Amino acid sequence: MHPKGGAFSENRKVSFERALQKSDERFRRVVEAAPNAMVMTNASGRIELVNAQAERLFGYSRVELLGRPVEILVPERFRRHHPALREAFSADPQSRPMGAERDLFGLGRDGNEFPIEIGLNPIDTEDGTMVLSSIIDISERKHREDSIQAALKEKDLLLSEIHHRVKNNLQVVSGLLDLQSAKITDSIALLLLVESQNRIKTMSLIHQTLYESKDFARVDFCTFLDSLVPNLVSSYGSNPGRVTLLIDATQIFLPIDAAIPCGLIVNELISNALKHAFPNDRRGQIKIDLVRGENHDVSLSVSDDGIGISEELDVGEATTLGLQLVTLLADQLGGKITIQRSNPTRFLLQFKVER
Ligand SMILES: Nc1ncnc2c1ncn2[C@@H]1O[C@H](COP(=O)(O)OP(=O)(O)OP(=O)(O)O)[C@@H](O)[C@H]1O
Ligand SMILES: [Mg+2]
Repeated sequence: MHPKGGAFSENRKVSFERALQKSDERFRRVVEAAPNAMVMTNASGRIELVNAQAERLFGYSRVELLGRPVEILVPERFRRHHPALREAFSADPQSRPMGAERDLFGLGRDGNEFPIEIGLNPIDTEDGTMVLSSIIDISERKHREDSIQAALKEKDLLLSEIHHRVKNNLQVVSGLLDLQSAKITDSIALLLLVESQNRIKTMSLIHQTLYESKDFARVDFCTFLDSLVPNLVSSYGSNPGRVTLLIDATQIFLPIDAAIPCGLIVNELISNALKHAFPNDRRGQIKIDLVRGENHDVSLSVSDDGIGISEELDVGEATTLGLQLVTLLADQLGGKITIQRSNPTRFLLQFKVER
């Protein structure tokens, strides 16, 4: 009826088809030039399009792939599940990475497998919705990750070995002192040896705690206290039950450079309470509290309900080794010591740990 209009709509159809062809051509060129391997599959999972990178990655030529089921690029052991995965994607086609939580592998023409990452993109075409997969070979990255893991494991082994040896060496030193003390009859000299031995054992115990916890950077201080305290009590040979020891500690991890001074301080304070607070078979209790406050503050207190510290003693100016050590080590920790002389006698150490 309207030959002009008919010709016009015919012209529009032609130009529309040209435009379509042009955009189709552009799409193919973009895919071809993409830096990743690209494989497009149709609704039945057959390969419709591959780019040069895909040919290179899988070792097939284009003609060998076109029209074949995409499963030929999937290792045998995953093939059975693959069609179901494809269908799940078609049911909810959205751009997303494939198998986010799984390790994915590609299968090359030569039968070799390699780790890959896949991005899935639904593409609407005249022939229905296709799936464009963008595939990256991550062999290099996996290889680097594996060598980092191996290096870390080696470092851990080495550290574990070092702590083990330091612990053993300290035990040897402690054993030597033990042998020596067997020859000593003077009770004061003997006590000095026992105390030196305890200090060495305390350091050894820190290394042992590190070694056994398998965390070589941080000491679980609560576990350390649980092994230290019975050791100390038995070394002073006090009648069990006369003085009870109570530990109330939250789990705190200390870096080794804080754990050693802190461990030595506790060693001195508990030793003092055992040695001085309960003379003449006096009964009582020693309490150790370990609390973590805000801002990574740690408070550690050792208290006893013994005879108390006499007013004459100037704790800051003490010339005896024990309290001198406590002051020195607290400085080393950047911490503060507060003392209450009696009811109960209480030494409070406060310091900050990093992180
Ligand atoms: N918990 C306590 N109860 C009572 N007196 C204490 C207590 N802690 C410390 N003292 C007093 O403080 C003094 C100094 O303690 P310090 O640890 O410096 O020396 P020490 O224990 O005598 O010897 P060492 O140098 O071997 O530790 C002790 O001799 C004791 O009189
Ligand atoms: Mg002392």
